[in-house]
Amino acid sequence: MTSIITITQLFFTLIIGMYFFTRLKSEKSDTHLLDESAKKSKARLDEMRRIHLREPLTETVRPKDMSEIIGQEEGIRAITAALCGPHPQHVIIYGPAGVGKTAAARLALGEAKKSVGTPFLRNAKFIETDATIMRCDERSIADPLIGSVHDPIYQGAGAYGTAGIPQPKAGAVTKAHGGVLFIDEIGELPSSQLNKLLKVLEDRRVFFESAYYNEFDKNIPDYIHDIFKNGMPADFRLIGATTKGGDDIPEAIRSRCIEIFFNPLTCADIEKIIVSTSNRLKISVDSGAIELISQYAKNGRDAVKILQMAKNNAFLDGRGTITARDALWTLNTCRYTNGRLLTGDDRIVDISIIKPN
Ligand SMILES: Nc1ncnc2c1ncn2[C@@H]1O[C@H](COP(=O)(O)OP(=O)(O)O)[C@@H](O)[C@H]1O
Ligand SMILES: [Mg+2]
Repeated sequence: MTSIITITQLFFTLIIGMYFFTRLKSEKSDTHLLDESAKKSKARLDEMRRIHLREPLTETVRPKDMSEIIGQEEGIRAITAALCGPHPQHVIIYGPAGVGKTAAARLALGEAKKSVGTPFLRNAKFIETDATIMRCDERSIADPLIGSVHDPIYQGAGAYGTAGIPQPKAGAVTKAHGGVLFIDEIGELPSSQLNKLLKVLEDRRVFFESAYYNEFDKNIPDYIHDIFKNGMPADFRLIGATTKGGDDIPEAIRSRCIEIFFNPLTCADIEKIIVSTSNRLKISVDSGAIELISQYAKNGRDAVKILQMAKNNAFLDGRGTITARDALWTLNTCRYTNGRLLTGDDRIVDISIIKPN
């Protein structure tokens, strides 16, 4: 009888042992497969990171100093007055596309930091966002501008998820705390986001709500209790830029900002941009080409684009200097001439050398 029991015990021990052994083996092979796939993905990522195309010319020659922004002396003075000194203000920059709004906004915090009595610390951040790509989600599950609460229902099996702890996630307004938040194309911001932004500008912090938050829950870490009670810091100065007119921007946001206007660029301004761009890039451009481009480029960005295309045309022919012929070819080919074909004038001597489209 005893031996039957011993054999049965032995049998079941063997079965259970085999079960755990197989499980351990399959878990190990799963981990191995995961490791292998992660290694391959990392190698692919590293490979991609080694490849760099040159950045567009408009970025390479982006003004690095306020003095390099041409034709906007009044606007630059106004931005400096608004942001430098002990009491920086929120700003909206109006103006057509490609006239230096983004360039000026990116340089503004650097200028402000140098000013006497500035509240911006040396490490104050400039956070750049674009209203056209701000996701707007009614339930605020993810809000890159204002921030959001990552509730346990969305966290799945993570440590916070299983413990039922809601996790506040900082948005751009908090990342810009102590510095500048730049919202390009602010006129495109959905009105729900704009209302939240106004509240943040007023409170200088973000308050979160979550059905999962319980102020008596001892599992919730102190810093999360602190955020739910006192809000997440979001004290920054706003710079908005827009190609729209004042009438298209809600009064509520306009009334909180100093409004600054950038001018459309004149031919003379564009000539200066072409000259400074070609100097920076060490390319030689004929005066005829400069004059032609400045007449047809709609703005500064356009001028740099046309210059690059004309340079590429000269490069294809193995020539080092951009001539009126290169400018003319670009203007015609890229239809800068409103469908008309430029036939040249006194400056353009030989029309027959225009390349076909
Ligand atoms: N006023 C300007 N002075 C010098 N360069 C300019 C000016 N405006 C535009 N540019 C050129 O065009 C590019 C794009 O300008 P950007 O500041 O982005 O224009 P916006 O924000 O008004 O659309 C700049 O990197 C620069 O090369
Ligand atoms: Mg811009």
